[in-house]
Amino acid sequence: MEKAEVRNQTPILEFILLGFGNDPELQPLLFLLFLVIYIVTVAGNILFVVLVVTNQHLHIPMYYLLGNLSCLEICYTSAILPQLLASLLTGDRTISVKGCIVQLYSFGILTNTEYLLLTAMSYDRYLAICNPLRYAALMNGAVCWQLVAGSWISSFVLSTIVNIFVFQLTFCDSKEIDHFFCDFSPMIKLSCVDTRTLELLTFIISVIGTFVPFLLTLTSYICIITTILRIPSSIGRQKAFSTCSSHLIVLAVLHVTALTVYVVPTANVPKVLHKIFAVFYTVLTPMINPVIYSLRNKEVNESLRKSILKLVA
Ligand SMILES: *[C@@H]1O[C@H](CO)[C@@H](O)[C@H](O)[C@H]1NC(C)=O
Repeated sequence: MEKAEVRNQTPILEFILLGFGNDPELQPLLFLLFLVIYIVTVAGNILFVVLVVTNQHLHIPMYYLLGNLSCLEICYTSAILPQLLASLLTGDRTISVKGCIVQLYSFGILTNTEYLLLTAMSYDRYLAICNPLRYAALMNGAVCWQLVAGSWISSFVLSTIVNIFVFQLTFCDSKEIDHFFCDFSPMIKLSCVDTRTLELLTFIISVIGTFVPFLLTLTSYICIITTILRIPSSIGRQKAFSTCSSHLIVLAVLHVTALTVYVVPTANVPKVLHKIFAVFYTVLTPMINPVIYSLRNKEVNESLRKSILKLVA
């Protein structure tokens, strides 16, 4: 009894990320699937960034923000997928405790920045539609730059506060994390010290980091929609709506998937389903975002067509 206790208290130095089980027939398939997703995501987002940077008439705040979001999506998938791919390829599912915390830390910064950038975009759309006369004065290159920098810095600060505490934790109960990347709650469960204060702190910070942006976005969209509904001509309504429809779709996809992962109680949902939702939230949204803004958007479509023609010629 005593011996077991002593062994239990030995701090562990690495975790095992259980991922999607270890069915040997499934691993190569999953590897290929995630490899394709990774390549498509990185290529699609790079293409979009190149398009924004090289096309003079996309040099407006809306596309700057989308371009920055694309850069973020590249980092975001790169924080999760290469590690998952390596473990699927080699069958080695261990990850050092430090590596796991670094993954958690970068995931935290990137998720929060994504929410803030999407909020900045709704502010941009709000000004463009509800306050068109003052748009040029209120939203320009400098303001846009401040919004982008502010998003990164505040996410960095919030995530650093949480992770200073996480770095001090010791882990000893079990090595197994039943997930495919190091997310906060599955990891924190393995700590051998009392984490209630840390969980409360994280809860408060996540509420600030996600709920406040959500409320700001919601308020912007309520103004946007009421303004659009008051436009007398249906062509005018459609035109105004088309400038924010892609943003609205991205927001909806992100919030719905994030809600299913983090709010729906895990108790009634099978673990596998929970992981599949997490795949949607972490891996599939970055892949489909560039598709959403290109397909839904005439200007992007035009620029893409012109660039391709130029390349061919
Ligand atoms: C990101 O935003 C900044 C500030 O507005 C802008 O100058 C830059 O070009 C953007 N980056 C991309 C890739 O769109």
